[in-house]
Amino acid sequence: MQSARRPDPTAIIIFGGSGDLAWRKLIPALFDLYLDAWLPEQFAIIGVDIKDLSRTKYHEHLHDGVKKFGRHRKVTAKAWKEFAGHVSYRKMDFTEGGGYKDLTGQLTKFGEEWKTDVCGVFYMAVPPRFIEPIARQLKAHKLATPEKHARIIIEKPFGHDFASACKLNNLLSDCFDERSIFRIDHYLGKETVQNIMAFRFANALFEPIWNRRYIDHVQITVSEEVGVEHRGGYYEGAGALRDMVQNHLLQLLCLVAMEPPVRFTADEVRNRKVDVLHAIRHYRRDQVHEYAVRGQYGPGWIEGKKVKGYREESEVARDSGTETFAALKLFVDNWRWQDVPFYLRTGKRLQEKLSVIAIQFRPVPHQAFPVEAVEDWQPNKLIIAVQPQKGIRLQFQVKRPGLKMILNTADMLFSYTDAYEHEPPESYETLLLDVMLGDATLFMRRDQIEAAWKVVDPVLRVWDNTTPPDFPDYVAGRWGPEEAEALIARDGHSWVSMAMRESKVANDGKDD
Ligand SMILES: NC(=O)c1ccc[n+]([C@@H]2O[C@H](COP(=O)([O-])OP(=O)(O)OC[C@H]3O[C@@H](n4cnc5c(N)ncnc54)[C@H](OP(=O)(O)O)[C@@H]3O)[C@@H](O)[C@H]2O)c1
Repeated sequence: MQSARRPDPTAIIIFGGSGDLAWRKLIPALFDLYLDAWLPEQFAIIGVDIKDLSRTKYHEHLHDGVKKFGRHRKVTAKAWKEFAGHVSYRKMDFTEGGGYKDLTGQLTKFGEEWKTDVCGVFYMAVPPRFIEPIARQLKAHKLATPEKHARIIIEKPFGHDFASACKLNNLLSDCFDERSIFRIDHYLGKETVQNIMAFRFANALFEPIWNRRYIDHVQITVSEEVGVEHRGGYYEGAGALRDMVQNHLLQLLCLVAMEPPVRFTADEVRNRKVDVLHAIRHYRRDQVHEYAVRGQYGPGWIEGKKVKGYREESEVARDSGTETFAALKLFVDNWRWQDVPFYLRTGKRLQEKLSVIAIQFRPVPHQAFPVEAVEDWQPNKLIIAVQPQKGIRLQFQVKRPGLKMILNTADMLFSYTDAYEHEPPESYETLLLDVMLGDATLFMRRDQIEAAWKVVDPVLRVWDNTTPPDFPDYVAGRWGPEEAEALIARDGHSWVSMAMRESKVANDGKDD
């Protein structure tokens, strides 16, 4: 979000430096930033982990990740060697104090070598149980005081429910200044997600109609084709509501529903988002079944391959009641959105990978065309494709060419791939650079996290305490359980399951 300036001299300490996130996302993102000259001239990356690894072995492991997941396709051995010269490895146990003493010495040494203050970025790429010992040790060793311009990055999951998120926030507040804490939701770093604000607030065209008077309903779908893969153990304790809705989907909802910020400062933008979360109607226990649907995938076929059901995945209980699909109907109770339903759905092993926001406008107030002209008529729809297709599609009505007046739906398309040659940065690139620059706009503030948990907490409480008797209730490779269709069909709508394809004007050139 920041303007084009490079960060000050920085040391990035990755707790879990030999873990999966560091290998697949963090080091490839840092290397890509390096190749694009976004890292400061004086920087160091220290991977901290329990494994017994030499510096050479560590570099080999990271290089493998960069080759697989990096954005830059053609990378010379020279560039990697130069970058790797800034990367070191330190074997230590997060829970023991000795390693932190060594880290303090290392940071002091950087300061002396670089002849300047060093900004310390402490990335907790670790399972949640390690956050407390690491935070306490950083505090005890005075490694992350505000005077040291330290930044602490916390990964999801941030808590397990409202109460545990508050507890975690209290711990972090006890150890660090709120301005030093960067809670990541990597969805917010995506170009297409940042573009929602540009689209809404840099154009005069849409904002006047962006309200209950013109918008009938909003749909947000974040679907995955993959199952739980190797994360069965984690997922058993999470489920789709905690893993996806509480964070990514509610953040997308905030971007669609927020009021225009007065300024693009971190707190102003986050204030407007938290207003939305506070306005979301909370359901009582007895209302949950009416507004929320859960599901779990059984075996099925995806792209011609037979895939297991959730209960057959490794580290998953054979009678698991964990939901791999969640759909909610929410309302934002304020002047702009009163009574406009927001339908959210997410799931694993669905028909295709798709993140899409569909804004369905209301029908025209009066239909002047003859009945035969409007047989295929549809109200306007705006589709924001977040991934894998990236772009915006506006559907509107046109006259089909011919001697008769027949209305047809046409599309106006903006595609990132067609419009821009360069691949956009990965979200971890954007977010890591923002942390180094101290810009918290795209990170979750304490009150945002807590307000988001408050929205899902009533549903969690009901779902955690009742095992659905009919699990698994959807076949892998379909769009989820039937009840999810019913949730939206009851209001006369259907889910949008397509983003940018079939984009040409319907029946283009066809005369009758
Ligand atoms: N991976 C992703 O794509 C992803 C995406 C989004 C969020 N996240 C979040 O990011 C965090 C890290 O995920 P991850 O997948 O990278 O986890 P991970 O692969 O388990 O990485 C953690 C690392 O810490 C090491 N470790 C364990 N105990 C230690 C100790 N006492 N002292 C020092 N090192 C220790 C582990 O070593 P061993 O392997 O030897 O135990 C492992 O290398 C989690 O909160 C996760 O939810 C991950």
